[in-house]
Amino acid sequence: MAVPFWCTGWIMAFDYVLHKGARSEAVLQSVTPAQADMAQKFHSGIEGYAATPLVNLQQWAQKIGVGKIWVKDESKRFGLNAFKALGGSYAIAKYLCGKLGIPVDENAFNILRSDEARQKLGQITFVTATDGNHGRGVAWAAKLLGYKAVVYLPEGSSLERLNNIRALGAEAEITKFNYDSAVRLAYAMSKKHGWVMVQDTAWPGYEEIPTWIMQGYTTMAQEIAAQLNGDVPTHLFLQAGVGSMAGAVLGYFAALWGDKAPVTVICEPDKAACLYKTAAAGDGQIHKVGGKMDSMMAGLCCGEPCTVSWDIIDNFASAFVACSDEYAARGMCLLGKPPAGDARVVSGESGAVTAGVLDAIMTEQELAPLREALGLNKSSRVLLISTEGDTDKVNYLKVLTGKWRQK
Ligand SMILES: Cc1ncc(COP(=O)(O)O)c(C=O)c1O
Repeated sequence: MAVPFWCTGWIMAFDYVLHKGARSEAVLQSVTPAQADMAQKFHSGIEGYAATPLVNLQQWAQKIGVGKIWVKDESKRFGLNAFKALGGSYAIAKYLCGKLGIPVDENAFNILRSDEARQKLGQITFVTATDGNHGRGVAWAAKLLGYKAVVYLPEGSSLERLNNIRALGAEAEITKFNYDSAVRLAYAMSKKHGWVMVQDTAWPGYEEIPTWIMQGYTTMAQEIAAQLNGDVPTHLFLQAGVGSMAGAVLGYFAALWGDKAPVTVICEPDKAACLYKTAAAGDGQIHKVGGKMDSMMAGLCCGEPCTVSWDIIDNFASAFVACSDEYAARGMCLLGKPPAGDARVVSGESGAVTAGVLDAIMTEQELAPLREALGLNKSSRVLLISTEGDTDKVNYLKVLTGKWRQK
């Protein structure tokens, strides 16, 4: 019998830091419910748009001693197996509609697809760097609207992710760089060739498009708020690469629910924990992580925080966790092989880490101080977002069959 992966003697890492932000509403202007309304209206005009499911995992909640666990299942998003296309599509539409001087509303997608719009706008190439999911979203949106996309992936990216992007007609290659250096390559190529860079992270001087991308992600948060039907979670766990998704979702909920917004925990791979490092330093400076960020949580292997979203996270997050791959594997198994009575959620490495972290906090004795500090108990109502499905099917199968890291 295969020994469960968390008993195989591999060294696991789990570090955390508690955080108290200033909770300034001034940082929420770009992710308000009004902004989210606009993004959702645009997305609702795209063929195949449907709110992804929010599942209620009652058996697991009972087992680990919380009141409720909801999981938003983004494997069902536009047939792309991850939430990311929400951001790329909205940013591309904002850019193109801006050129045409038309609103980005429920009609925008169809207008942009018309011959008339295409003739007015001419040839445009969109370029980006990606772990896979964002690039797939950009390639998908560019293809639907009739434009070219060029996509650079970091060293070590899976062939499945590369091929998924190429299948959408984009020019894509796996580079010799880590994610952050691939971003610099995409930027240099955009300058050299006059391409439009659609990057899911911001830095001083490059903020407009990343802000649109974050606004695109708020559609997911707005769907959740509607699906909760008046209920408000007490706790929210969000995974982060550069932090754009976490900033957008946390910011939207902070704007919507004010003082009632959930206690929020940001989770990252220990090898790429730039937000954890920035929070732990607590010196008002952004701190980066460099080198080969070797984690199977490919979507979270980013070493440089998004500056726009960091302001929101810094103000509203309550804790940061940096953990090793075992927690992602644990989450994948928990969601992929649920107890009888709970729905199955196919959740990939970056999608499932928050489930592994929540389970560990509730069940491991060494983490009792964190459990208490966060106020997690029988009356807690916890929200997780499974941001991707099995985007690396080979690894997903290995993890679920206990063959991952088997000695
Ligand atoms: C599946 C998945 N989840 C989460 C994230 C993290 O998003 P962000 O880089 O905005 O923090 C990514 C990023 O690519 C991702 O692909």
